Amino acid sequence: MREKKRVFVRGIGSYLPDRVLTNGDMEKIVDTSDEWIVSRTGIRERHIAAANQVTSDLAVEAATAAMNNAGIGVGEVDAIIVTTVTPDVAFPATACFVQQKLGMGNCPCMDMEAGCSGVIYGLELAAGLVQWGRYRNILLVAADKLSSVTDWTDRSTCVLLADGASGFIVGGEGEGAAAELLGNHIAADGSGAEFLWMPAGGSRLPATETTVVERQHFLKMNGKEVFKRAVKGMAAAVDQLFSNCQVTADQMRLFIPHQANLRIIEAIAEYLNLPLERFWTVLQRTGNTSSASVGIAWDDAARKGQLQRGDLLTLVAFGAGLTSGAALLRWMR
Ligand SMILES: CC(C)(COP(=O)(O)OP(=O)(O)OC[C@H]1O[C@@H](n2cnc3c(N)ncnc32)[C@H](O)[C@@H]1OP(=O)(O)O)[C@@H](O)C(=O)NCCC(=O)NCCS
Repeated sequence: MREKKRVFVRGIGSYLPDRVLTNGDMEKIVDTSDEWIVSRTGIRERHIAAANQVTSDLAVEAATAAMNNAGIGVGEVDAIIVTTVTPDVAFPATACFVQQKLGMGNCPCMDMEAGCSGVIYGLELAAGLVQWGRYRNILLVAADKLSSVTDWTDRSTCVLLADGASGFIVGGEGEGAAAELLGNHIAADGSGAEFLWMPAGGSRLPATETTVVERQHFLKMNGKEVFKRAVKGMAAAVDQLFSNCQVTADQMRLFIPHQANLRIIEAIAEYLNLPLERFWTVLQRTGNTSSASVGIAWDDAARKGQLQRGDLLTLVAFGAGLTSGAALLRWMR
């Protein structure tokens, strides 16, 4: 058997659209208040893409930032993976549009749908391709334009959701890399698939006038159930990862959790018996950016000097599916 290659995140980048909607702006759209949103979620503002900016446009911004950060050009990328729940179109894959917009050559392009666990699922797939030895640099982009599936009349969801993208170059070359991937764990609980979903537009409920009138082409969520399962799912993912990698929570310099709700993050911190300061949060100004969220938070922590060479960090996420996952990395810069 060939020895497994080490896997590195050679570069990381993120993108948030320019337009900001504050909680004050949300008060003008639905019957809500800044006080309710902040106390229930921690969110104060979110970025919303322009009407003509589609998911692949967000992805291209983050991809370009990640390639620059890794110091590589488009010619060195040999596969593109996009994780998203808001593809440009039902088919073909959004990764194909990213390739087209980046003016890249003939590399394989694929999409992966793992809800807000997109980065961690994407790392698993990218790492596998790198370890297999046939791919040197995978462009992994997690991008979502949740505003395109947001029901702006539903106050229980529209205050949470936002747009953004994060990108990574995953490869086998450690020289100059941002981090080494030391372990990864992903899981899913399909019994909760209908707790967070978009009911219509697929083969189960194709688009009709009725589905439009009934507002079935928007994200629907059972908030209470998702909240409970998010805490359980993320706690289980971290436990499994740490057991696999033989590490403990107090060895982590930083946790980078999915940025959905500060109360969910507080519950995980309490479960792990760690102070909240060990959990990097950006949700206050980004809202829930779905697939992109973990990467946006990670990039932010790195740019703000929160990671020193040799630090261990854990990414942990939860999302539609219901998916969950956690990744262990060592910062190398
Ligand atoms: C959505 C969420 C914030 C709601 O918080 P909650 O404390 O569970 O609130 P509830 O659902 O019990 O609603 C309480 C009340 O607030 C109301 N409410 C809901 N959204 C509101 C809003 N934006 N502004 C004001 N009131 C609102 C509800 O209508 C309800 O009123 P009622 O008691 O008169 O029926 C919470 O369930 C949550 O964060 N869930 C997880 C969501 C998530 O992170 N999803 C993404 C995972 S990837």
